[in-house]
Amino acid sequence: KAAEKGGYDYFMLKEIAEQPQAIADTLLGRLSDRGEIVLDEVRLTDQDLRDVDKIFIVACGTSYHAGMVAKYAIEHWVRIPCEVELASEFRYRDPILDRSTLMIVISQSGETMDTLMALRHAKEQKARVLAICNTNGSTIPRESDAVLYTHGGPEIAVASTKAFVTQLVACYLIGLHLAQIRGVMYADEVAAVVEKLSSTPEALTKLLGQMEDVRALARDLKTASTVLFIGRHVGYPVALEGALKLKELAYMHAEGFAAGELKHGPIALIDQDTPVVCVVPSPAGRGVMRDKVVSNIQEVRARGARTIVIAEEGDEAVKAYADHLIAVPHTPTLLAPLMTTVPLQILACEIAAARGLDVDQPRNLAKSVTVE
Ligand code: AGP
Repeated sequence: KAAEKGGYDYFMLKEIAEQPQAIADTLLGRLSDRGEIVLDEVRLTDQDLRDVDKIFIVACGTSYHAGMVAKYAIEHWVRIPCEVELASEFRYRDPILDRSTLMIVISQSGETMDTLMALRHAKEQKARVLAICNTNGSTIPRESDAVLYTHGGPEIAVASTKAFVTQLVACYLIGLHLAQIRGVMYADEVAAVVEKLSSTPEALTKLLGQMEDVRALARDLKTASTVLFIGRHVGYPVALEGALKLKELAYMHAEGFAAGELKHGPIALIDQDTPVVCVVPSPAGRGVMRDKVVSNIQEVRARGARTIVIAEEGDEAVKAYADHLIAVPHTPTLLAPLMTTVPLQILACEIAAARGLDVDQPRNLAKSVTVE
């Protein structure tokens, strides 16, 4: 077992460290010399994809959070309405689907029963189903019309880490491919995003080398009774993912909120020293979002919160509002979750370890949930 963990204390830490390579492997060979996204294994024709007028993304847990990020990217790039749904809820509300609906199902294991049942329901309604999956030959890709495999390699720890970042990459590639074949984005625009994507493994390696402070912070937070996470835009699913990781690994009460929703209720939870993890958008690009999150941080701090701020390197102004600052390398806004999620994975893992818990096998959980 120790050898399998490659010198790490837990599979989860090994898998966190493998994320740069997993991203690079998932990108490998998927951009042609002409700047076109190559998704050879996706057996839907370009015409099938041009006919799509609505997209549903359906998944569970961490894979659902990847889907939430994908919605922002796909709607922005492709300009097709895109809804994200929890697989366990999907078929019970009688969703409207037909031949021109594309359903994207996301599953690391390819065996999650809730996701499989949602996919079968979509197929009965004649929707086309594209799976994003990490497990070759598993049930979900076998029953889908097409599959884009993530090349994360086997994920042993129950908590999903490298699968998540590779799912994001797969979603970005699908979004860019759709935008290109539908003529919404030119080849040079697509290539520019792919170039940014290609530089994320290196940036992530650098980030992973700077996590000592996060480990120290974890030791500090291990006795907190609740930890809140806030984010806006793609930072919102990152906040949800940070909270999920903490719940499943450290058995602590944790909740993620859209930062703008705080004032509609959750801000009442803030007490003296309540830790609030704040995911700050890049000041470049849509600076307006960043400024809004910064004022949300000021609001929680004014009520006594202890703020743990994840912000881009060089964003000097946030320092004034951060009790702890975790700096991440710059990425374009839509790609930021590839960076901002990683400190939250490490935080949850280290808090669980500091609490003496079984990081790789949390209680009550299975790696693959094969019942509805
Ligand atoms: C993530 O840390 C969880 N263990 C869990 O939410 C998981 O992502 C979910 O069960 C979906 O699994 P899948 O991707 O294999 O379908």
